[in-house]
Amino acid sequence: MTRVSAANGGAGRATLPVMAASENGRAGMVAAMALLRKGGRALDAVELACRVTEDDPNDHSVGYSGLPNVMGEVELDASIMDGRDLRSGAVAAVRGYGNPITLARQVMEQLPHVLLAGRGAERFAAANGHAPQDQRTEEALQRWRERFAHYGLDSEGDADLRELTNTLTRPLNLSEAPLSAGSERRFGTVNFLALDQYGDLASAVSTSGLGWKYPSRVGDSPIIGAGNYCDNRYGATACTGMGELALRVSTARSLVLYMKLGMSLHEAGLEALRDLAYLGGVPGRYMNMVAMTPQGECAGFTTVPGKKYLYMNEEMEEPALAERVRLEESA
Ligand code: GLY
Repeated sequence: MTRVSAANGGAGRATLPVMAASENGRAGMVAAMALLRKGGRALDAVELACRVTEDDPNDHSVGYSGLPNVMGEVELDASIMDGRDLRSGAVAAVRGYGNPITLARQVMEQLPHVLLAGRGAERFAAANGHAPQDQRTEEALQRWRERFAHYGLDSEGDADLRELTNTLTRPLNLSEAPLSAGSERRFGTVNFLALDQYGDLASAVSTSGLGWKYPSRVGDSPIIGAGNYCDNRYGATACTGMGELALRVSTARSLVLYMKLGMSLHEAGLEALRDLAYLGGVPGRYMNMVAMTPQGECAGFTTVPGKKYLYMNEEMEEPALAERVRLEESA
């Protein structure tokens, strides 16, 4: 188990800037920490960090080049939350536009809503001057073609996708370790939590969702309380993994609520893992959380062996990897 204490009282400052992220957040974290070092705000830092990951063509779980749904279309989800006042913004199932985290922030700042989905989100993107951009790369499309060529999935009306969706998801259970060599990697999301020098927390999550998902399937990432939650008073949490699990037990909000009720970061993370364990051996029993206290203590939690998370404070030259806590190891 690794917990990282980043709290301190440097000259004239209540806190050090500190960040936590999922393992695929390294480049985004470096860019965001540079912003925080210059006095930048946590909200700007997590948005910037997500944008870096969304633009990375080598990350097939987030933004541009994300794995498509079962019909070969990339649909993006993202959410952002401001710990100062719990303002939140999110978009879901967005096709044909990039950087969904910026769209999510614009929803938060421009509308009396929290979440826009599908066509409305795309209309909102156009209204904000986002240029339409096909999010599918040839590499991601090629993987889709190899996987589904023989199903003849040419158009929305051609196939009944119900059985196919169930067949695709059934093997994704804990015992088959979705990260093992040779297994088909269909999960992926990026999480960023930041505490700035003003003592403010922010959180951001972005994903292309479960690869080969049913069209318009939405996971936990754009759902405030499931995949993302942030409150300056008690802490922040963000999730990666099989979003249906976090949706069912409100993982991100629960972990922060457990801290509000007096649990330590470690105890709160274990309690959130117990919530997930209660779901039993459902398909894809795979979930990870990163969490941070208002003082900048970080931890990662997971249901599967071998998973790590990233953390960094302004004194570190590079993000560092730390082990995530598992329930079994802590029992
Ligand atoms: N955690 C991302 C998703 O399930 O879509």
